Amino acid sequence: MKTFLMCEPRYFEVSYVINPWMTGNQGLVNMELAAKQWKNFHDILSSKASIRLIEPVAGLPDMVFTANGGLVCRDHEVIVSSFRYPERQAESPYFSKFFEDSGYRIRRLNSDIKFEGAGDALYDSNGQVWVGYGHRSDVEALDEIAAILHTRVNGLTLVDPRWYHLDTAFCPLANGYVIAYEKAFSSQSVNKIKNEFSDKIIWVSDQDANNFACNAVNIGNDVILNKASDELKVALSKHKFSVIEVDVSEFIKAGGACKCLTLEL
Ligand code: ARG
Repeated sequence: MKTFLMCEPRYFEVSYVINPWMTGNQGLVNMELAAKQWKNFHDILSSKASIRLIEPVAGLPDMVFTANGGLVCRDHEVIVSSFRYPERQAESPYFSKFFEDSGYRIRRLNSDIKFEGAGDALYDSNGQVWVGYGHRSDVEALDEIAAILHTRVNGLTLVDPRWYHLDTAFCPLANGYVIAYEKAFSSQSVNKIKNEFSDKIIWVSDQDANNFACNAVNIGNDVILNKASDELKVALSKHKFSVIEVDVSEFIKAGGACKCLTLEL
């Protein structure tokens, strides 16, 4: 059974702008609705996986996006994130403490390299690692991650500030499939994705990308996401995946959806 780390949205709000989705949304989160949406997502996820919780911290509204806490490696090791923006940097000690208390060996990248954890680093079903860089994580992170994981790392260049984390535009699924949004990537990176996943790529439309359809949690055949078009549901069902829609609109105001609200342990 998969295990995910989540963080209750007790202090969630949009109080600063560090990605384009947050623009114009300062002070506009409906806290009650956010709490309801999070709980609904938590309950659905906990019927399919086991959930651990990290205590939220006042003044760190984006801590709900646990995907950015770090990248969990094999053997109870974790690369703790070094956040790009000061607004989120204070989260790292809390995530480190959680991992330490849970018996993980903490790894860090060289001090000036930025890396935002599982928001920018995703394993595919063959165990290969895909790292997105260009906005939050530095290209220099790739070699260091490869050295820690003892494996090759595939880099993908993110070219559009709306798709600032890899998990906003790319979601490896079971059995070698992947959901992806072409416009988020440089043409070289699009070719890399095509070469690797060929006929197992499910490209999404602008509309699905804007609804954070790539920001999905895959458990077995289930693909849990904010919202998918009928077209995307059909494409996924052709490959035996079924979509579970979970409305997380309040979190999209901060630029994150289902996958960002989880960190696979
Ligand atoms: N407001 C947060 C930020 O800009 C959202 C993070 C979303 N997380 C993710 N893994 N895509 O950092």
